[in-house]
Amino acid sequence: MKKLYIETQGCQMNKSDSERIAGILSEYGYLLTEDEKEADLLIINTCSIRQLAADKAYSQLGVWGKRKKDRPNIKIGICGCVAQQNKEKIKARAPYVDLIFGTHNIYELPDLIKSVENNEKICSVTNKAVVKNQNDFKIIRKNSVNAWIPIIEGCNNFCTYCVVPFTRGRERSRNPQEIIEEAKNIINEGFREITLLGQNVDSYGKDLKDENINLANLLRQLNSLEGNFRIRFVTSYPSDITDNLINAVDECEKVCKYFHIPMQSGNSRILKEMNRHYTKEQYYEIVAKIRARFPMVTITSDFIAGFPSETEEEFEDTLKAIDELELDYSNTAAYSPREFTKAGKMTDVFISDEVKSKRLERLNAKNREVCLKSNEKCVGKVLSVLIEGVTQKNGKAVLNSRADNNKIVHFVSDKYKIGDFVKVKISKAQTWCLYGEPVE
Ligand code: SAH
Ligand code: SF4
Ligand code: F3S
Repeated sequence: MKKLYIETQGCQMNKSDSERIAGILSEYGYLLTEDEKEADLLIINTCSIRQLAADKAYSQLGVWGKRKKDRPNIKIGICGCVAQQNKEKIKARAPYVDLIFGTHNIYELPDLIKSVENNEKICSVTNKAVVKNQNDFKIIRKNSVNAWIPIIEGCNNFCTYCVVPFTRGRERSRNPQEIIEEAKNIINEGFREITLLGQNVDSYGKDLKDENINLANLLRQLNSLEGNFRIRFVTSYPSDITDNLINAVDECEKVCKYFHIPMQSGNSRILKEMNRHYTKEQYYEIVAKIRARFPMVTITSDFIAGFPSETEEEFEDTLKAIDELELDYSNTAAYSPREFTKAGKMTDVFISDEVKSKRLERLNAKNREVCLKSNEKCVGKVLSVLIEGVTQKNGKAVLNSRADNNKIVHFVSDKYKIGDFVKVKISKAQTWCLYGEPVE
C-alpha cells in the first residue's frame, strides 16, 4: 500500500471533497496517513476565498517541493479553488507538482492517478463538472459522529467580493434519491449527525426544474428516515429562506433549530455594492421571523470589514446590527481583493490595510461580547447535546458536545460515550462554550 496525505484548507465543502478524494484513492492502493513525512502522495486541497488562504497553498507547495529534492519519488498534487483558478500560475511557481485537478474533476481521479504513477505530469481543470453518481465512489469520512453531504455545488449569486462562482461554477443540485441513499448509508454506519452542505442551500433543486424538489422537502424526506440522528444545513442566503423552509424546520424533529445566515454588512448601501439581494431591513425581518418561530434558535452570520468605499458610519451599522439582532456568533474577515471579481477592480475606493484591521478588531470585540451574552441566556436551560469527543482532565472524563442549537457544551460524566445524545442543564457560560451537568 502507498501512503496518502491530504492537507485541507477552506470550507466544509473542501473538507467533504477531501473525504471523497481519500475514498477514491483508497480503491487505487492509497492508504490515508496523518503523518505527511511518510506519504508517497501529498495532496493539498486549497481555498482562495482570501489572499491569505491562497498564499498558504503556495507556501505549503514550497515545503513539499524542497522535500521532493531529497525524495524524488514522492508525488505532489494540488486541487481545490486555487487549482481551479490558477493552474498556469501553479505550473510556473511550482513546476515540481505532478498533479493539478480542479473542483470539477475529482471523479476523474481514477484515470488521473494512473497517469501520475506513469510519471506523467497531469493537469485536469475544466469549467464543467463531470456528472457522476457519487454513491458509486467510496468516501473516507474523517469524523465518526458527524457526516457531511453536499447537496448543491456552485453559486449563481456573484457577490462582488467573492471568488466562489469562479472556483465552483454555477449551481448544480444533486438528485434527491442520491442524497437519500447517501444518508441511509451514513445512518447505517452509525453516524449521528448529517450536515447538508451548499454555498447557498436554499437554491437546492432550482436547477432540477421540479417544484417538489427543494430544501424543505429534502429535510422532510430525511427526517422521515428511521434512526437516532439529527440534521443540519449550511449556508442559508438571507432573502432565499422561504416560509416553506421555516415550516419544514419546525415540523421536522430531527432538524436542528439553527440557521447560519451571513449578513456581510449591516448597511444597505454596502449590501447593494456587494450585490447582496436584500436590504438591512429585509435581513432584520428574516431574523425576527425565525426568532418568533423558534425561541431557542441560534442564528450565526458572516461579516466583512472594510469593503471598498465603506465609511466609518457604514461600518458602525454593522456593529449596530450585530447588537440589535443579538446574533449568536459571526465569522469575521477583513475584505481581501480577489482576482476576477467586480469589487477587486474598485481600487480607487479600497480601504487601507490599517483601517481594515482596526475595523476587524472592533468587529471581533463586538462578536465576543454578543457571543457571551447569547451563551449566558442558556444558563439554567436544558439543551439536547451530541457527544463528539472526550478529554481527560484531572482524572475525570470531560465530554465535549454540541447542542442542537450548535453551541459547544462541556460536561463531566463517566456514564456516556462519543455519539450519545444527552440532556444537559447549563450551569456556566463562557464566550465560546457552555458548561453543565447531565439531567438523565
Ligand atoms: N455562500 C456563503 C459564503 C461563502 S464564502 C454566503 O453567501 O454567505 C464564506 C465567507 O467568506 C463569506 O460569507 C464572506 O463573509 C467571506 N468572504 C468571501 N469573500 C471574501 C473576500 N473577498 N474578503 C473577505 N471575506 C470574504
Ligand atoms: Fe460567494 Fe455570494 Fe455565492 Fe456566498 S452567495 S458563495 S458570498 S457569491
Ligand atoms: Fe474557499 Fe473554495 Fe470553500 S474558495 S471557502 S474552499 S468554496
